[in-house]
Amino acid sequence: MKKIAVLSGDGIGPEVMSQALRVLDALDLGFKVEHGLIGGAAYDKYKSHFPDETRELCLTSDAVLFGSVGGPIVDSQLPKWHRCEANSILALRKALKLNVNLRPATLFKSLISISPLKPELIEQGVDIMIIRELLGDIYFGEHKQFIENGLRVATDVARYDEDQIKIAIHQGFKTAMARNNKLVSVDKANVLDTSKLWRTIANEIAPEYPEVTLEHMLVDNCAMQIILNPAQFDTIVTANLFGDIISDAASALPGSLGLMPSASFSAEGFGLYEPSGGSAPDIANKDIANPTAQILSLALMLRYSFKLEKQAQQIEKAIIKTLEQGMRTRDIHQHNDTLVSTQKFTTAIINNL
Ligand code: IPM
Ligand code: MN
Repeated sequence: MKKIAVLSGDGIGPEVMSQALRVLDALDLGFKVEHGLIGGAAYDKYKSHFPDETRELCLTSDAVLFGSVGGPIVDSQLPKWHRCEANSILALRKALKLNVNLRPATLFKSLISISPLKPELIEQGVDIMIIRELLGDIYFGEHKQFIENGLRVATDVARYDEDQIKIAIHQGFKTAMARNNKLVSVDKANVLDTSKLWRTIANEIAPEYPEVTLEHMLVDNCAMQIILNPAQFDTIVTANLFGDIISDAASALPGSLGLMPSASFSAEGFGLYEPSGGSAPDIANKDIANPTAQILSLALMLRYSFKLEKQAQQIEKAIIKTLEQGMRTRDIHQHNDTLVSTQKFTTAIINNL
C-alpha cells in the first residue's frame, strides 16, 4: 500500500488539508495516510519547526502533501514563529533533496473577472508553468552579518554549480516539451556570474531538445512582461530567488492565491505538493478559506507521484464545474455568485467528481 505523508502545518493549513483528504477519501484509492507535525504546530510539541519524527515520516513515504506554515506577522519574534517558514520549508527541501519546483499560473475561465488585469490583457488566456530551481543560489550560500571598519555589514553568497543548473534546465525543457515547446530561461546575465553560467548551460543543453524554442529573458524585463503580456509565456525556467519572486507575481494573475497548487521534485522524482499561498492566519478556523489550491495539489500528487492521470483530471474537472455552478469562497466571490464555506465548497466538488 502506498503511503502519503500529510503535513498540515499552521493557519488555514489544517482546514484546507482536511478538505483535500475528504476528496481523496471520496476517490477511494486505498492510500495509507500518515500525519506529521511541521512549523509552529511542531514547535508546540517538539520545540523544533521540523522535528526528526517528521523527517523520518517523509523519507519513508511515497509522497508528501504539505499545507502551509507560519504565524501572524505581529507574533513573528515569538520563538514559536521566529524563522518558522525558513526553518521548516528550507529544511524540508534540503532533507528531501527537492531540486525543482513547478508553479503553474492558470486562469479559470469562469473567474476571468476577478483577475486584477484588464480583460484585453488576458482574453487569450493565461497558462504559464514556472520551473524554479530550489536548492541553490543565494538561499543556500553563506549568510553573514559582521562589523567592518565600524560599520554593520551583511553578505549572502549566491552560488551555483553546473549540476544544479543542469537539473533545472532539463526539467524546463522536458516540461516545455509536454506543453507548447516554448521555453523562456530567466536570468540576470547582464550582471551576475551565476546567471552567465546559467545561460551558458541552457544554451549547451538546448540542442538535446530540438523541438523546443529557447529564449532568454532578463528577470527585470520578465517581471514587467508577465503583467503586460502574460499570454506570451508558456514554460519559464529560472533560479531560486528569481523563481520565488516571478512566481508570486504570476500567482496574482488568477485573482486569488487560494487557487494555485505547486509541486516540488527530487532528481529521483520524489514529490512534495503544496498550495502556492501561505498560512493566512487572519482567516484561519473561520471556514472561509479557499481549499482549491490544496485540492489541486492533491490532483498533482495523483498525477505525478502515482500516475493516476484519470483521477487527477477528475478532480480538476470537478473544480471547474463547481466554479461554473457559481459556487465561490469569499476570496473569489462577486455580485450574484453563491457564497459558500470551505466545507460546502468541497462538498460541491465531491458531488461533481
Ligand atoms: C516560497 C516561500 C519560501 C521561499 C520562504 C517561506 C522560505 O516564499 O515557497 O515561495 O522563499 O522559498
Ligand atoms: Mn515565495
